[in-house]
Amino acid sequence: MGKLNGKVAVITGGNSGIGFATAQLFLKEGARVIITGRRDDAVREAVRNLGEGASGFVSDAGNMADVNQLDREVAKLAPKVDILFVNAGVGLFAPFEGTSEELFNANMDINFRGAYFTVQKLLPVIPEGGSIILNTTILVHSGLANTSAYSASKGALLSLNKTLAIELADRKIRVNSVSPGPIATPIYSKMGMDEAALNAFAADVQAKIPLQRFGQSEDVAQAALFLASEESGFLTGSEIPVDGGKAITF
Ligand SMILES: NC(=O)c1ccc[n+]([C@@H]2O[C@H](COP(=O)([O-])OP(=O)(O)OC[C@H]3O[C@@H](n4cnc5c(N)ncnc54)[C@H](OP(=O)(O)O)[C@@H]3O)[C@@H](O)[C@H]2O)c1
Repeated sequence: MGKLNGKVAVITGGNSGIGFATAQLFLKEGARVIITGRRDDAVREAVRNLGEGASGFVSDAGNMADVNQLDREVAKLAPKVDILFVNAGVGLFAPFEGTSEELFNANMDINFRGAYFTVQKLLPVIPEGGSIILNTTILVHSGLANTSAYSASKGALLSLNKTLAIELADRKIRVNSVSPGPIATPIYSKMGMDEAALNAFAADVQAKIPLQRFGQSEDVAQAALFLASEESGFLTGSEIPVDGGKAITF
C-alpha cells in the first residue's frame, strides 16, 4: 500500500531535477502524476520515462496565458488535484548593480507570479485534505551575493506559504514549503556560468555544508512526500529545509 494511493499530484517543472525525482517517488507511492514544463520535447520524454500513471503538458510558468489555462489542461487529465507541488523555477543570478529588469522579471515572473497564480488557478479542484507544497530555498534566510532577485522571488513565495496556510486552514488544505540547500540538478548549468566558474562556485558551496556534499533531488523528493502524505497531517505553514545543515552555519 503506497502512501499516496488514489491521489492525484500535479508537479510543475516536473521534467527535470527535483520535480522529476518527486514525480518518480510519488508514482512509486501510488499517486497519479501530472507534470508540467516549458519544453514540449522535455515534457514528453519525462512522461515516457516516468511510465504508467504519468502524464503531462507544456505550460510556461512565466507566461500568464499558459498559467490561466492550467485548470482547463488539468481537467482534461483528472477531476481533482490532491497534491500540488509548485516546483517550476529558475535561478538567474547577477550582482545587484548588474541586475537588469529582464533578469529581475524572469526570476519574479516564473518563481513567484507563476507560482502564485498556479495555486490560484488550481485551488478550486483541490479537495479537503489536499496538500500544497511550495519549493523555495534556504537562501531566503541568509545573504548570498548575486542572488538579490532570485532570493527575493523565493522570499515572496515563503511569505505566501504562511498567508495561504491561514486562508485555507478551514478548508482543511495544508500549505507547506520545502527549502532546498544546494542540490545537484541541471539548474546550475542553466545559469550561464562557464564550467570553470561553476566548478569553483560548487567547491566553495560544498565546503560550507556541514554534511559536506551537495544534496540529491531524491533528498528533496522525500521531504515533499512527507508533506504530501497524511504523515504530515498536523503541519501547515511549515518549512522543511533540506540543506545538509547549511542554514544553521555562520
Ligand atoms: N538545485 C538547487 O540547488 C535548488 C536550491 C534551492 C531551490 N531550488 C528550487 O528547486 C526548484 C527545482 O529546481 P531544480 O534544481 O530541480 O532545477 P531544474 O532541474 O532546472 O528543474 C527546474 C524545472 O522547472 C522548469 N521550469 C523552469 N522555468 C519554467 C517555466 N517558465 N515554466 C515551466 N517550467 C519551468 C524546468 O524546465 P527546463 O528543463 O525547461 O529548464 C525544470 O523542469 C526550483 O524552483 C529551484 O528554484 C533548487
